[in-house]
Order: sequence, then C-alpha cells, then structure tokens
Amino acid sequence: MGIEMLTPSQTACKMTAAHISEGRVKAMQATAGVGLVQGPAHGVTLSDLDGNTYIDCRSAGGVFNLGHTRAQIAEVLAKAVQDTDMGDWMLLSGIRAITAKKLASLAPEGLDHVQFGVTGSEAVEVACKLARGTTGREKLVAMTNAYHGFSGFALATAPEDLIAPYGPLTPGIVAIPHGDLAAAESMIDDETAAVLLETVQGSGGVVLPPEGYLAGLRALCDRHGALLIFDEVQAGLGRTGKLFSFEHWGVVPDMVVIGKALGGGYYPISACLYSARVLDFVNVRPLAHPSTFSGSELGCMVAQKALDLLSDPALLANVEAMGARLARGYGTLQAAFPDFVLGHRQIGLFTGLDTPDAETGKALRHAAVRAGLIAFTAPFQPQVLQIWPPLVITKDEIDELLLRLTHAVREAADSFNDTNTQTRANGT
Ligand SMILES: Cc1ncc(COP(=O)(O)O)c(C=O)c1O
Repeated sequence: MGIEMLTPSQTACKMTAAHISEGRVKAMQATAGVGLVQGPAHGVTLSDLDGNTYIDCRSAGGVFNLGHTRAQIAEVLAKAVQDTDMGDWMLLSGIRAITAKKLASLAPEGLDHVQFGVTGSEAVEVACKLARGTTGREKLVAMTNAYHGFSGFALATAPEDLIAPYGPLTPGIVAIPHGDLAAAESMIDDETAAVLLETVQGSGGVVLPPEGYLAGLRALCDRHGALLIFDEVQAGLGRTGKLFSFEHWGVVPDMVVIGKALGGGYYPISACLYSARVLDFVNVRPLAHPSTFSGSELGCMVAQKALDLLSDPALLANVEAMGARLARGYGTLQAAFPDFVLGHRQIGLFTGLDTPDAETGKALRHAAVRAGLIAFTAPFQPQVLQIWPPLVITKDEIDELLLRLTHAVREAADSFNDTNTQTRANGT
C-alpha cells in the first residue's frame, strides 16, 4: 500500500473532517472550489497552508478593514498584555469608559452611551433587548434579505431556510421587504418597539437603501414612538468611506450596532451605541446585559487604537479613491463581458458584482479563487460576487485585484460559453 502524501492544506482538511465536521470541509469546497485553509496574512494578502497567496476580498466581512496583522494594533495588544488582562466585567473600568467616550465622540450627537459586547450578534441582542425594555413593547420590525447573526433575536430575523431547523424562535419579530416604504408604513405602528435594519445590506448582496428610505423609517419611528436600530457590523467603521455608513444619508438612529473591525483584526469586541431615551431604561436596569467578556480591558485597548486608525481622514479618503478606481475597472469588465457581468452595486469599498444567476456566480467565485482572489458570492444572493478588500488597499493592489478578476471572469465566461456550445451541439 502506497504512502498517502498530503499537502498541509489537505492534512488540515482531513483533520477538520475528522474532528470538526466533514460537512464543514465540504461546505468550504463548495464555496471556494477547494478546501481553502488559511495561513499567514499581511495587509491585503492572505496565504493558504500550501503557500498560494490571495488578495483578500472578504476581509472576514470587515474584521480586516485595517488589513491583516496590522502592526500598530499588534503593538498595542502586546503592550497591553503586560499590565492587564480580560478584566472583571462587574467592576467599573477606566479603560472601558475611555473607549466609550471615544466612540461617543466619533458618533453623531445623540449616540452618547455604549454597551459593549464580544460579537456582532451579541450587540444585536443588546439593541433588541434594550428596545423592548425601553418601550415596553414586543414587536420588532426587521427586513427581508437581512443578516444580523445567529443567536436569539438576530436568528429570528434570518431568512426562512436558514432558521428552519431551530424553531420555535423568539416571537414578536416580523420581516418586511427591504426598501419598501409603503410596507414599512403598514407594519410600523404604536405597538412597535423598534425597526432593525442593516444600513447597507451585506450578506444580501450590497443593497443600498433607496433614496429617502432611511429618512422615511426615521419619520415612521418618530410618529409611533418606536426606536430605529441600524446594524453597521459590516457597513460601518469605514467600509463605505465614512466611519458610520448612515452618515451618508444624514439619518441618526436611536441605536447603532458595530463589531468586526472594532477589534482591529486581533481581538473580539462589539458595541451598541444608544440614545438618551434608551439610557433612561438602562439607568433603571444597569445590569440589563451582564456578559463576562464584554468590554474587556484588552478588547477596549485594541478598540481605542482601531478607532483612531479607522477614523483617520486619510484612510476614509483612500476608501473613496480606491472605490472609484475599482468602479472604473468594473465598468471595463462589464463592457468586455456584457452577458456575464451585468453591473455592480457599490458604496466605497463595499461592492457587489452582478452575474446573471447562481450558477454563473458559482463559476466566477471558483475562478476567482484560482486566480488568487478570496472573493465569495453573497449568501442570500448567490449571483452577486462580494468584493470587500481591506480599506488600506493601494492603487497597485487595486490594479492587481482587477487583473486577477478579469482573468477569473474570462475563465468563467469561457467555460460557460463552452458548456452552452456543447449543449447546443448535443441538441440538449
Ligand atoms: C450585518 C451583520 N450583523 C451582525 C452580524 C453578526 O456578527 P457576529 O458574527 O460577530 O456575531 C454579522 C455577521 O456577519 C453581520 O454581517
């Protein structure tokens, strides 16, 4: 019997199948076309365990807005661990207070208080819980095509096929079609605690709010005494060219949820910023969200530095400039492959490339990985390729990304044309 020679990636896949789940490995293979196993990562580049390098166009949904293994964050963390640790959530914390003050000073007026969490889902739980506590109402209005996480309230807002095995879910949550103000008008009423939405839908394929939509929701919430909650776990912290994406539309929510990039790529931390109205409830129930690792000392130290870097005007200007450069490249691609690239949706470096259907989306995402891009299709809109590189990406890196993308589109389009020609030749 021959000796089985496996690459490091194959070995990791085998171990994953044996000790995590075979389904997990198969899911990765279906997503990427290969069992992609992450290795060293720096800046916008990520390697697999076999030494292949990729431009990261996922940024783990925004975790790596500042690039991978960002030195300034690593330095802060290395220094912080000398003097402190997780801290005790029950005790007051100066580091936590300074971080909350920094967040409040960066957010628009009115969002002056903070409850920290560890994950984005947890911060969504905080927001929904505080909405019910503040209003004494049960009904939460969410959107179709949305993702807010996979726990409690958040899970109950997810699309049907995702939640099917887990019922019964948290009651009192209704979903309305995203972007439809008439539907919102008929659903939001005096029994509504809050309206929850991603300011820009990410997993739904980079869907921007139609003109006037956010202002319309704000007005409806005000009319009925409901709270408006924006989920900026993906759209926030610089991704769109502003620190908070809702700043593009000049509408301020009662609560905003952030996560991912807040940890600088190194340390899990999330937050829910809230208004004075919510504060009244929190003052009565100051321990409304006891959570052991929320607002940890180390997480807050990292978040302070991450916020300094993410709010740097030079970084936000880079997002705009690199977004424009990417858009020009998309235009060229669309002109060259009009049947394959139908268009794109974009704000800053939050971009989605439209292909005709799920099959072409799959072909493109597999070709993209082969071409050296980690770019996957949107979970709820599998015809849309998401391209969300770290915000530190340079001109040369954008050009390289576009070169690889062009290569991938050509390969995927050719394979589709070949298949269609073959099908016609076979008369099938
Ligand atoms: C918009 C949005 N909200 C919430 C979450 C949940 O965040 P986490 O996975 O950190 O719990 C995500 C995760 O991708 C998200 O995209």
